[in-house]
Amino acid sequence: MEKENIRDIVSKLTLEEKAGLCSGASDWLTKAVERLGIPSIWLTDGPHGLRKQEGLTDNLGINESKTAVSFPAECATAASFDRELLRKIGEALGDEGQAENIQVLLGPGVNIKRSPLCGRNFEYFSEDPLLAGELGAAYVEGLQSRGIGACVKHFLANNQETRRMTSSSEVDERTLREIYMPAFERVVKKAKPWGVMCSYNKINGKFASESREYMTDVLRKEWGFDGCVISDWGATHNRVGAIAAGTDLTMPGVPETDGEIVEAVRAGKLPEFLLDEACANVLQLVYKGIEGRRPGVEFNMEKDHDLSRYAAEQSAVLLKNEDAILPLSDARKIAFIGQFAEKPRYQGGGSSNVKAAYVTNALDEARKLANISYSKGYTEEGTDEEMLEQAVQVAKEADVAVVFVGLTPGMETEGYDRQHMSLPEEHAAVIEAVGRVQSNMVVVLHTGSPVEMPWLPKAKGLLEMYFGGEAVGEATVNLLFGRSNPCGRLPETFPTRLEDNPSYLFYFGTGNKVEYREGVYAGYRYYESKRQEVLFPFGYGLSYTDYSYSNLKLDRDRLCSGEVLTVSVDVTNTGSRPGKEVVQLYVAVNKSDVLRPVKELRGFDKVELASGETRTVFFQLEQRDFSYWNTEAHCFHMPAGSYEIQIGKSAHEVVLSAEIEAEEQPLDIEQEFTMVSLIGDIMKHPAGKAFMDTYQDELCEGIINSGMVENIIGKSISKDEVLPMMKGLQGQGLMVLKMFLPSLGTDVWDKLLQELNGKE
Ligand code: BGC
Repeated sequence: MEKENIRDIVSKLTLEEKAGLCSGASDWLTKAVERLGIPSIWLTDGPHGLRKQEGLTDNLGINESKTAVSFPAECATAASFDRELLRKIGEALGDEGQAENIQVLLGPGVNIKRSPLCGRNFEYFSEDPLLAGELGAAYVEGLQSRGIGACVKHFLANNQETRRMTSSSEVDERTLREIYMPAFERVVKKAKPWGVMCSYNKINGKFASESREYMTDVLRKEWGFDGCVISDWGATHNRVGAIAAGTDLTMPGVPETDGEIVEAVRAGKLPEFLLDEACANVLQLVYKGIEGRRPGVEFNMEKDHDLSRYAAEQSAVLLKNEDAILPLSDARKIAFIGQFAEKPRYQGGGSSNVKAAYVTNALDEARKLANISYSKGYTEEGTDEEMLEQAVQVAKEADVAVVFVGLTPGMETEGYDRQHMSLPEEHAAVIEAVGRVQSNMVVVLHTGSPVEMPWLPKAKGLLEMYFGGEAVGEATVNLLFGRSNPCGRLPETFPTRLEDNPSYLFYFGTGNKVEYREGVYAGYRYYESKRQEVLFPFGYGLSYTDYSYSNLKLDRDRLCSGEVLTVSVDVTNTGSRPGKEVVQLYVAVNKSDVLRPVKELRGFDKVELASGETRTVFFQLEQRDFSYWNTEAHCFHMPAGSYEIQIGKSAHEVVLSAEIEAEEQPLDIEQEFTMVSLIGDIMKHPAGKAFMDTYQDELCEGIINSGMVENIIGKSISKDEVLPMMKGLQGQGLMVLKMFLPSLGTDVWDKLLQELNGKE
């Protein structure tokens, strides 16, 4: 509906109706205004499947919901590094949404994984904002192409579950801009989601729902968002404050607080035009939903189940494959051990929990292909000697033992965080027991985030399936038996120990304050800068084939403000199987005056290659890709310097690199030079450099004549010996120069300062 028509409807609403429209009718419906024929629309969780509740409702996944297809959770699909896959999942969810007559799907979640402990990591994509933003945007584009709106969540700085409703994320401006905001920014700018969900937490002391700075100034004014800001369920504490901030729709319905808005308008405390804007945004969402309806769309459970299987295969990460133990040959005696083989953990707990129609397990699927012996090793209740002994027996009798382990429902669920990074004791015990008797051990992981692996040396094979959705059984078997070639790459670092994670010391915070003291050093940005060894780096993953890289080319060797750099590189499949490689491009800073992570992911692409095939992959980089957030100018800034374009098989393993010089992007910062300004800073200014060149000889003489150096080293020095010492002056103030240049009058210094300050 045209904006004008919407404004017209708003003008016909009474004040009470306006206030009412800005909160839901129930858990999942917006409010209808029958008098004016305004319909209501359905909002439903997301993100990896539909959770439509028609009976008792809740926002924690407790009550029944309608049967739907469970796709792999975002923790898994992130590992696909595959935009096209996310688009397809979005499309399928869109069709399911149409068939179920919903209008908005609550997802995707693009929060950054600050710590492996976050209980909702499985619902988020990555520790890297580019990956999270690109995949989030592809999902939104797919979903919305089917007439269903996306609601990107949870904006902003919601990176833990502990005290998520009261804690304040204390994050500095630069860290927000470089790490926690860009994924949202990318999705908003690229995919134009219909909705953005504000988070429960406070941002630097202010509830997200009441933050005009983020919900309006950044989101709408800077990024051009023109959809509806929806509160997380129960995230609004002050209806008037929310409307004033730009949080348009409070969910679920809280009609008892409508009066607060009415009173505030009447008392002149809330300008009515702000309420009108909120209503217009809600109405726009409603009418987009109504206009997007495609009656008659049906969804085919089997087809979507198959897409779910394909997605799980594209997302699994092969982490270890010693002696090429995988793929398994059906000629060998194979044992499956661990209850997850028959009851896989395929999704996390909480509001994203989907009532899946048809969950497959690896044991049944593998038995269709080979003779598999089985021992459960543990149950939901734990393990005991008898179960462990049986597992050992079955492992001994086989040629290869595949052990299925992971994180249990109690460990990864919305609402709380993990307290450690270990597997459940009973799962670890089974690995240890099997590892003692069977050297051919493969471990299959079902986790939503990294775990510590003290047992890793005993496993020859390791396959991370994440929470792979309802078809995870078939996908796992296809990968184990080589019917499908693993092509996922880690969207997050697997640290060796939890203590190595950069947020470790500060993660849960103190009381209601959570300080993000690690700053911009999130994930691999920290591990690589610190040269901290990790178990598996960001971007890592193996394949049943091999790839080689050649011909890295840059179309220029110098980049100026506003220019675009095109990078190309050839990738060849040198192995005997077809496969898909994830080409990763990092921009590394060779030397910088600004504290910066040593490298950052600035491009990725996934390419399919037949055996022996070569393809050229292209990337385009812009000024922003070389920039950091400057807190004086409050913008991204590309400083001059030498950068390295790295093509990596992970954040750690660089296979090719090339250098490029960047020219300083002019910054609009008022910098006042005085006699205490550093000589090093002054020399960066053309006037300062000219001054130093002019007076260099005199300066050397001044230093010699002062006798200072002679006093220290006990002998007189020559001009040639002074010159190398000049570098040491850079950290001194300008007044030190004055000391060594006594012949210069005040007028010379005044003139220099005037030139430096652009006054001459
Ligand atoms: C979650 C949201 C979810 C909403 C509705 C909240 O508890 O944080 O992600 O969309 O409930 O179920």
